[in-house]
Amino acid sequence: MLSTSENELLTRVGPGTAMGEMLREFWTPAARSAALEAGGAPRRVRLLGENFVAFRSGDGRLGFFDEGCPHRCSSLALARNEADGLRCIFHGWKIDVEGRVVDCPTEPPERRAAFAASVPHRRYPVREAGGIVWVYLGKRATPPKLFDFEFHHKPADAVVRCAVVHGNWLQGFEGQLDSAHLGVLHSSSIVAGQARPGDNALSRYSQQNTSPRFELMETPYGFREAALRALPDGTVYARIREVVFPYYSFIPGEHGEPRLVVVVVPIDDEWSAHWYYFMSPFGPVPEAYRRQMMWGTGADDDDYAADRGSAANVWHQDRAAMNGGHWSGITRNFTYEDFIVEESMGPIVDRSREYLGSSDAVIVRARRLLLDALKEHAEGRLPFGLDRDLDYSRIRALAIRIPAERNWLTIDPLDPENG
Ligand code: FES
Ligand SMILES: [Fe+2]
Repeated sequence: MLSTSENELLTRVGPGTAMGEMLREFWTPAARSAALEAGGAPRRVRLLGENFVAFRSGDGRLGFFDEGCPHRCSSLALARNEADGLRCIFHGWKIDVEGRVVDCPTEPPERRAAFAASVPHRRYPVREAGGIVWVYLGKRATPPKLFDFEFHHKPADAVVRCAVVHGNWLQGFEGQLDSAHLGVLHSSSIVAGQARPGDNALSRYSQQNTSPRFELMETPYGFREAALRALPDGTVYARIREVVFPYYSFIPGEHGEPRLVVVVVPIDDEWSAHWYYFMSPFGPVPEAYRRQMMWGTGADDDDYAADRGSAANVWHQDRAAMNGGHWSGITRNFTYEDFIVEESMGPIVDRSREYLGSSDAVIVRARRLLLDALKEHAEGRLPFGLDRDLDYSRIRALAIRIPAERNWLTIDPLDPENG
């Protein structure tokens, strides 16, 4: 449980809010690379309560601006995308990829160039990695280094998809931190094996031990956490997750299996973008896994769960399926189960009304770390290792069976023995 003011601190993300300012220190996932075609339609992007436009100009460069035209604020998502910038359809003002206003055809020719040069427009640094366009929305003249995640290096056949959910970002992120729901909410979708091809270890071992022990080790960037299940044969099944603040969660796979990274990015106080990055560190993503990941989902990779319904139709929950043995009645895809329970809490859950149990320990710890980071940030320090040179490419989640006497913290998930 949090006080109402703590809840406000953690959930409000607009400009000038404590969380909003802290989140602006980080590179933010903004759009799928593939959604921005050279010379194609610019995209509206809403992040942290502000509206932007992202585009790839005819010459292939990326631009990222405030959405409103600097003249009279019509949307630049409507603009003509020319070889080297956007031209507003209203009066034809042109802004080049660097954000300079370079033409104002409605001004007299003799003063046009000087006038254009005097018009300011906000543009933001952009990068591309892992099939994602990243933007820096912070105030610093020099942005931090873009995290060099492993998934940035395996883009060729990775599955990169996004779902837009009507719920504050922290609801989504906390859903990812909450291992206790895995064997309950997802008991018909993941645990019963529908989300993985064939027989799977998670399903087998979850049945052999339904109450794992959780251990957590803080890291400069977040924490490593293990769900440890003692098995009847004397070994231990360890599911080791990595959490990178402010909003990354690395979901384990077995030796040789693809891995999932879930990123929950605030669109504004009430909406969040859930990024799913599914890739294999060992080569192409096997077709059976890809099919299972996409199974039952909508076709739009920028909002693949748009057809999940809403409170008005109780998200199409299928009571007949429940009577037939399906746990949640949300039968489309395991991620829909997450989105729907998040939305069902209301756009910003009132955490002063919760009644937490021991299984919520990780969530309690994460909230405390976020609140501490907000304090540090207000005092002028950079949070979560941003001021250090950390090797993010070594962060990998792993599910593995180990001898009972082995300490899971000694396992290197990048060692090919462990995978
Ligand atoms: S509003 Fe864009 S050119 Fe006038
Ligand atoms: Fe879940």
